[in-house]
Amino acid sequence: MQIHIEPITDTSPVTLPEPLGFGNLFTRRVFTRRYEAGRGWHDASIGPRNNIALDPGAHVLHCGQAIFEGTKAYLRPDGRLGLFRPEANAERFNRSAERLAMPGVAPAEFIAAIEALVALEHAWAPRGEGASLYIRPVMIATEATLEVRASRSYLHYIVLSPAGPFFASGFQPVAVRVEEQHVRAAPGGTGAAKTIGNYAGSLAATEAARAAGYQQVLWLDAQERRFVEEAGAMNVAFVYGGTEVVTPALSGSILPGITRDSVLRLAPDLGYAVREARLDVDEVLADITAGRITEAFCMGTAAVIVPIGRFGRHARDVVVGGGVAGPVATRIYRALTDIQYGRADDPYGWTRAVEPAVSVVHGAA
Ligand SMILES: Cc1ncc(COP(=O)(O)O)c(C=O)c1O
Repeated sequence: MQIHIEPITDTSPVTLPEPLGFGNLFTRRVFTRRYEAGRGWHDASIGPRNNIALDPGAHVLHCGQAIFEGTKAYLRPDGRLGLFRPEANAERFNRSAERLAMPGVAPAEFIAAIEALVALEHAWAPRGEGASLYIRPVMIATEATLEVRASRSYLHYIVLSPAGPFFASGFQPVAVRVEEQHVRAAPGGTGAAKTIGNYAGSLAATEAARAAGYQQVLWLDAQERRFVEEAGAMNVAFVYGGTEVVTPALSGSILPGITRDSVLRLAPDLGYAVREARLDVDEVLADITAGRITEAFCMGTAAVIVPIGRFGRHARDVVVGGGVAGPVATRIYRALTDIQYGRADDPYGWTRAVEPAVSVVHGAA
């Protein structure tokens, strides 16, 4: 894949606002590449982040044939940026593409596109605890058609967003409400794919939970409304007896998180047992009340680890771990972020450093 690099007109020094927030600021460049049936992927380029021109009949705007990924570049002590398991994102992108009847992208090209863009936008990487350059690869169906069938043309693009900690309050426990009315995903549906409709369908429940004083919803399975699936757009885990980390087994309607997978691999090396299981929400809440579950936490790229302080169900709250961040979540968060930021050795081979494309000076702001 040859990437054509177009010049950008705004080359003024980068100054990042303080506080940075999450997800509302974008860098000046975007990677784009087009696909046509019969021709394949072509015209890879990195250029100014202008608006995307789409026909109002574009398939994505009607059928929602679109997938995305989320990963991050972390500023390392040596000034380089570190990517974390981008090959896992490439794999999941292709699994999502297959589920949505979209063309795949060669993993090496998916990663090369990220690396080229991140190298050029190196100066936008923020410093500080929980700060990173968030990377959002997307693929959308661009053919103008109202027919309900797979599009014949696509756009793969990547935007970068300098991001502060996902939760403004930092490593503080969140409140999670068990969702009784809506489900996120059903067996045979698209829950294991990172496709936009899953998120659109989650908004009403999330907004209602927020209005009731919770930050996230706890999704239950669609068939029995009984088994714990995920917490908001994150995977979820419970700590039994301060020593065992238990997370819902992948059910087909749970998104297989890369953070979840990393925790399952890392926790045993920190001395914790791990288990994937079907978790009945009533048993979970009873185990919290009885003190058998000592902590609960969410896992996802955006926030890495988020402790859960209380669960709400049927207008009652159950406090977990005294409502404060527990030692297991804290230790896992620390160990994982030390690897991501290049502060600790990476015995798992999860990180890869990206050299800046041009010499940039950090830390001016
Ligand atoms: C629905 C959902 N579950 C879980 C996750 C966590 O996945 P990861 O750890 O790969 O970010 C995400 C975020 O990508 C998500 O959107």
